[in-house]
Amino acid sequence: MTQETLLYTLPGTRDLLPDELARWQFIEQAAREIFHRYGFREIRTPLIEATDLFARSIGQETDIVGKEMYTFRDQSGKSITLRPEATASVVRAYAQHTMYRGSGTTKLYYLGPMFRHEKKQKGRWRQFYQIGAEVLGCGHPAVEVETIEMVISLLEMFEVKVQLLVNSVGCSRCRPPYIELLRADLRRLSPHLCEDCRRRSEANALRVLDCKVEACQPHIEQLPRITDHLCEECRLHFDRFRKHLTLAAIPFEITPRLVRGLDYYVRTAFEIVSVDLGAQNALVGGGRYDGLSEVLGGPPVSGFGFAMGLDRLVMLLPDQLSARWAEATDLFLAHLGEQAFERALGLARTLRREGFRCNLDFAGGSLKSQLRLANRLNARHVLIIGEDELASGSYLLKDLSDSSQRQLGATEIIQHLRGLQAHPHRSPSDEGV
Ligand code: HAM
Repeated sequence: MTQETLLYTLPGTRDLLPDELARWQFIEQAAREIFHRYGFREIRTPLIEATDLFARSIGQETDIVGKEMYTFRDQSGKSITLRPEATASVVRAYAQHTMYRGSGTTKLYYLGPMFRHEKKQKGRWRQFYQIGAEVLGCGHPAVEVETIEMVISLLEMFEVKVQLLVNSVGCSRCRPPYIELLRADLRRLSPHLCEDCRRRSEANALRVLDCKVEACQPHIEQLPRITDHLCEECRLHFDRFRKHLTLAAIPFEITPRLVRGLDYYVRTAFEIVSVDLGAQNALVGGGRYDGLSEVLGGPPVSGFGFAMGLDRLVMLLPDQLSARWAEATDLFLAHLGEQAFERALGLARTLRREGFRCNLDFAGGSLKSQLRLANRLNARHVLIIGEDELASGSYLLKDLSDSSQRQLGATEIIQHLRGLQAHPHRSPSDEGV
């Protein structure tokens, strides 16, 4: 009986293979390094949570909750959801473990997969990856700017060109009257709007502002702007936020139509978009979510954070940059004959214990085929072990980055490689060898 092949991944998911993962690891390492500099500590929450956690925090009327969640009943009949984002989980964990006791401000970051059943498109996946950070227990606009500065400095490391878009979406006091105004205008404009806009006009009027349909644009442009309808506190907060952005010399653009696709935001909302991505150009999204903790049954807590789409950032990473950081092999040990092979195994063992990345060929091929493998593995050095080397204990070490060669014993090889680690950009001529 012939069986259907199982050699495929589900739509919107894919395997990340070793060659590609070098870029991912580079970004992840850099993010950890920078986040630690700003006082953030890692948190890991489950990939599955109670469905209500997301329904209540992200909002019943949002696309995420309404149509994109992977929800199922487990064996006990409980409704479970694969996390579509991590802010709700982080706030839950923060309140559940009373992390608010003690320190005033808690800074947390996370990275990992999120799941949304979205229409497939370039830059859009059903299992995608985010790196995010959340600041809990601080309502100051300066902490928003500090957090944005952190993510921008991370993006600068990757040499990607970005633009910061900011807005205030008001609070529970000033937003409802604004939405009433919006609805009144939307009813009037209804015959000119697309079906999605008409549906959203009643259910989630703010989202109309996010419509991308060409024909709707001139009408949406006429709608009242939320920034003209903020209450005194929200206006003051937005002023101070912009002042701190200016103090930090971070360029930004006020975008009154920026409303975000999650309902928990109050006051500051922002996105960082890339000029080099297509339709799915949002690299980072975030904002303030004071009150979310209470919605989940926790104490009143201020919150601000962002999440960055790792899949999209990887697409933007310049090739030369990722090549510079690609996983390399420090040393490839080429061997000629059985005894040389055994010596190579022993040397590799010693060098690995010393912390170097070593590799060798187990297929026993010709020197030429071994050198080809060394190239494929992106080896910096090749060590050649033949009969003479076996007898003398001194080996020919070839630096493939500049083709220089030197004859060294095992201990000298370690010293030489260590010297290169300490001064990775020093050329051999600087060493006086
Ligand atoms: P979000 O805007 O839904 O916000 O997602 C943040 C980023 O995740 C997006 O800008 C995008 O780069 C990436 N992303 C979202 N969906 C996909 C997808 N289907 N495929 C690829 N990348 C995607 C949040 O998730 C909030 N939790 C952010 C936040 C944290 N707000 C406050 N704290």
